Amino acid sequence: ESDQTWREVDAYFEDALVAEDDALTAARTSGTRTTMPRAEVSPNQGKLLGMLCQMADATRVLEFGTLAGYSTIWLARAVGDGGHVTTLELEEQNAEVARQNLERAGVTDRVEILAGPATESAQRLIDDAVEPYDFVFIDADKPNNPAYLRASLALTRPGAVIVIDNVVRNGTVTDSETLDASTQGVRAVVAEIARDPRLHATAIQTVGAKGWDGFLLIRRTA
Ligand code: DHB
Ligand code: MG
Repeated sequence: ESDQTWREVDAYFEDALVAEDDALTAARTSGTRTTMPRAEVSPNQGKLLGMLCQMADATRVLEFGTLAGYSTIWLARAVGDGGHVTTLELEEQNAEVARQNLERAGVTDRVEILAGPATESAQRLIDDAVEPYDFVFIDADKPNNPAYLRASLALTRPGAVIVIDNVVRNGTVTDSETLDASTQGVRAVVAEIARDPRLHATAIQTVGAKGWDGFLLIRRTA
């Protein structure tokens, strides 16, 4: 229909179904203090990520792109007391905002923020042979999506679930001639997934508070 209708429907389900506490609301609105205001997922999407984690029985979660830590809080709460979230953030400024938000949300003890380029942080995790992750959320700089997928495959167990944000981009994802590096990053990772026999994947388009976009959902079978 229209962007306005999408927003009204999103707000309807959010009001009816998504109980955001003060810590989540503060984290979401503190996005304005980061280098990328308004890039965080919506409340309905945050709850979706947490539910996917729980449906996948995940206790170890890896996140590419912390920003203010809004999705990080949803993921950390989903894994519960004994769970762990490692979240990778390029900008120290954003990591500092996230630290405050995680503290307010009461999940500091189960979240580790690694500041710096996420490809380097992920490589350190690989070199350290950390325990495999069960669930990955890729939501950082889009040109690096293929690199983040490869790192995720080195860091997850068979059966793990990988979710990639912002794969529809107002429909521009279908433009094979695009000069936009972010759209190229999405198309490149889709092509890699399609070639990899270990991976089952599909995409869901989303509309709502964040406009027209979508998630890629991946399950690694081996
Ligand atoms: C942008 C990045 C995101 O991860 C998002 O959810 C929305 C926007 C961006 O690069 O502008
Ligand atoms: Mg995103």
